[in-house]
Amino acid sequence: MTIDPLVARAREAALKAYAPYSKFSVGAAVESVDGEIVLGANMENACYRLGICAEISALTAARQAFGLDRVKRIAVAGGHVGPDGSLAGAAPVTPCGGCRQAIYEAADLSGLDVEVISSNGDGTEAITTTIRQLLPHGFGPASLADAGG
Ligand code: THU
Repeated sequence: MTIDPLVARAREAALKAYAPYSKFSVGAAVESVDGEIVLGANMENACYRLGICAEISALTAARQAFGLDRVKRIAVAGGHVGPDGSLAGAAPVTPCGGCRQAIYEAADLSGLDVEVISSNGDGTEAITTTIRQLLPHGFGPASLADAGG
C-alpha cells in the first residue's frame, strides 16, 4: 500500500515528542491549501493533566504559519521510538476526542471537510477519513450563529 508523504512528516515529528510519562510518541503534520506543511508532537508534563496532544501542537503551528482557515489535511502517527531511532507501532492512531474538536474548529473556518490520515507508528498502515466522519454533528463556530448581538 502507498503511504501518503504527509504521514512520513507526522512520523518524523513524533521523534521530537516529549513523552517521558506515557512513552507514547505522537506526531502530526498539517498541510495548508497551498501545500505548506507544519509539524507538531505531544508534549507531556510532570503535572500529567497539562500535557498537550500532537494535533493541538501542530494546529498551533499552523495558526502561526498560514492560519486555521487554510488547513486542508492532517496526518497523525504514534507509537514508540524503536531501537533504530524511528517511530514504531502496529495500531493506527486516530485523534482523541478533544483533538477532533480542534480540527473541527479549523474545518469550520476553512469551509473544508479536513482530511485526517491516521497512521500506525511503523508507517505501514493508515486510515483516511475526514473530520466530519470522525466528529459527526459537531459543534463549531457556525453553531454559535444564534447567540445574537
Ligand atoms: N496523544 C496525542 O498526542 N494525540 C492523540 O490524538 C492521542 C493521544 C498523546 C497524549 C499523551 O501524551 C499520549 O499520547 C498518551 O495518551
